[in-house]
Amino acid sequence: MIKAENLIKIYKVGDAEVNALGGVNLEVEKGEFVSIVGASGSGKSTLLHILGGLDKPTEGSVYIDGRNLSEMSDDELAEIRCLKIGFVFQFHNLIPTLTALENVELPMIFAKVSTEERKRRAKKLLESVGLDDRMNHLPSQLSGGQQQRVAIARALANNPEVILADEPTGELDSKNSHLIMKTLSELRENYGVTIIVVTHDMEMAKYADRIIKMKDGKIVGEIS
Ligand SMILES: Nc1ncnc2c1ncn2[C@@H]1O[C@H](COP(=O)(O)OP(=O)(O)OP(=O)(O)O)[C@@H](O)[C@H]1O
Ligand SMILES: [Mg+2]
Repeated sequence: MIKAENLIKIYKVGDAEVNALGGVNLEVEKGEFVSIVGASGSGKSTLLHILGGLDKPTEGSVYIDGRNLSEMSDDELAEIRCLKIGFVFQFHNLIPTLTALENVELPMIFAKVSTEERKRRAKKLLESVGLDDRMNHLPSQLSGGQQQRVAIARALANNPEVILADEPTGELDSKNSHLIMKTLSELRENYGVTIIVVTHDMEMAKYADRIIKMKDGKIVGEIS
């Protein structure tokens, strides 16, 4: 499903170079739940962004369903990002002026889903993350955990095959963190979505089938 081959990422800052990824190889099967752990600066976000086509590697390739991302045009890449992949970021970036329902509808507007279908689906997704009674709330009227669940519902809007989540519980207390991880596990059970979660919290990482450990831009271990 997702395959990374010898990913190298070098950031140039002025005259200095940062080796963010030093040759990462990774394969994730369809329907697998993988977590990535590692110290701050070890390259977790860089890897996730490259896997999702949000950033390009300096060297190496990412294949999604056998297709090489670096051989795609910008339009094709945008389409894959919109339809195949759902992103959940640490700071969920919900649109503050839109309600929970409208935030979840947004990716479906980009995918040209009809208004009626959009509303129906957004409601169903918010129900599936336990927010039936919060649809018309603005993000500022929701708790941190509820906002993160809206972000997960939004990531699922276009029925993605893959969810990439960067520290989805980073800002949450333990109770809400477990709720988010349970929500993700259920989505995998119910829809067969492939999930990759970056976290620094070992307890949250344990929800996955496989835990991948990164250090200094490399994968240094795996626990299953
Ligand atoms: N846009 C950038 N320009 C230059 N260097 C960067 C850039 N983004 C990340 N880096 C550097 O690349 C390395 C890996 O960063 P990355 O954000 O992938 O780490 P991380 O494992 O996600 O860390 P954290 O747990 O703190 O989020 C770090 O040393 C970081 O300083
Ligand atoms: Mg990070």
